[in-house]
Amino acid sequence: MTPAQFRKHGKTVVDWIADYYARIESFPVMSQVKPGEVRSSLPKTPPQHGEPFDAMLRDVEKLILPGITHWQSPNFFAFFPANTSFPSIMGEMLSAGLGVQGMLWATSPACTELETHVLDWLVEMLALPKTFLSGGKGGGVIQDTASSSSLCALLAARERATNFHSNERGCTGKLVAYASTQAHSSIEKAAKIAGIGRANLRLIGVDEKFAMRPDALEAQIRRDREAGRLPFFVCATIGTTSSNAMDPLAPIAKICRQNKLWLHVDAAMSGTAAVCPEFRWIHNGLELADSYCFNPHKWLFTNFDCDCFYITNRNELIHAMSILPEYLRNKATESGAVIDYRDWHIPMGRRFRALKLWFVIRHYGIEGLQFHVRRHIELAQQFASWVQADKNFELAAPAPLNLVCFRHRSGDETNQRILDNLNRSGKLYLTHTKLAGKLTLRMSIGQTNTELRHVKRAWERIRAAI
Ligand SMILES: Cc1ncc(COP(=O)(O)O)c(C=O)c1O
Repeated sequence: MTPAQFRKHGKTVVDWIADYYARIESFPVMSQVKPGEVRSSLPKTPPQHGEPFDAMLRDVEKLILPGITHWQSPNFFAFFPANTSFPSIMGEMLSAGLGVQGMLWATSPACTELETHVLDWLVEMLALPKTFLSGGKGGGVIQDTASSSSLCALLAARERATNFHSNERGCTGKLVAYASTQAHSSIEKAAKIAGIGRANLRLIGVDEKFAMRPDALEAQIRRDREAGRLPFFVCATIGTTSSNAMDPLAPIAKICRQNKLWLHVDAAMSGTAAVCPEFRWIHNGLELADSYCFNPHKWLFTNFDCDCFYITNRNELIHAMSILPEYLRNKATESGAVIDYRDWHIPMGRRFRALKLWFVIRHYGIEGLQFHVRRHIELAQQFASWVQADKNFELAAPAPLNLVCFRHRSGDETNQRILDNLNRSGKLYLTHTKLAGKLTLRMSIGQTNTELRHVKRAWERIRAAI
């Protein structure tokens, strides 16, 4: 494709994306295709000869769109937000256009330095502990996902706890990690991948708000020590996936300090709320954490993938992850004056993700981001008040931010029927969880363009879907 052709088709693609957003509410939010339907519509073999660009875009419209669940629809209330914005999309386009591989500072200094800079900005924007700033011993890095961040935290913790011996000789099976029963499944996955073993991940009980019980954590650590085990890692969650529960960081951090355990804090979605001073309480106690992550790709208007991972002592992470083959040696690395982010995560290669985050922050400004985050929380609080005022429905958990867990009082069957009817209608998309053994509906509000009218209409539809 020549630059002239790219210019022409590229403009068509931008128009297509802009039109997509203009008509997004006309599509069923949850894709209605049957398993295998998309695949069976595709040619069995790849084309022998190149095809015209128009044909590809026509097929996106005809074959791909029906198989899309519209995460960017303002009527998307399922799972958690994965919101994006036009500035982010343009940052992503530029990143693809530059095609940079930022594994070393030397392979594109701007890719590394912009990332360090934007992550320092975010420390200020979210009022995170200053120990996460790159000017001291800590620092931030963009990872693909919170799952990867938690795995990296676990690996660094494993190495610190074993004096960097596990990397050499493998694990002995003595290490024990802790998270609540409500922690994200990625923690269990990380325990398996890191060689800790699922049986050595203790899932600590929660209180009536589904938050980790520090007394239960402390008791379990004591039991493990008495049994000759080596407790080394705690993952606390700020905003659990099921119900947005907030583990109490301050007492958990104190227990970690007393027992010399690594504290990782997973604030995948909810961390974003701290852009507003009135929601910064969610991070009380974070100053004692060893690592922290949150996902701009969930609720900060930045398209997937973009997870910000912070650490208070970057050397512990780098020591755990660094390998320097001859072919990566270069003067800048040897000078010690630069960051080589390939040592801060699992893959060697890395995309220029900071560009989209930089665009988002510059486009909205702090005020703009606060405005949108506050609006989502206000909408969720309004929704929660409607649930509370309706004698047929009840709240199933506290709703501190933008997620409302609720259910019809007449039991699981009714709630399942509501869910199925709504999702089949295509008018909105809701998902469920189980809380205290009961099927619970989740109203997650955070798509960039969701307004009061969407939430009002959703509530009318929910009540009518029984
Ligand atoms: C609390 C929490 N942690 C981790 C994750 C996983 O996020 P990612 O897809 O970035 O790995 C999620 C996603 O739902 C989450 O809610």
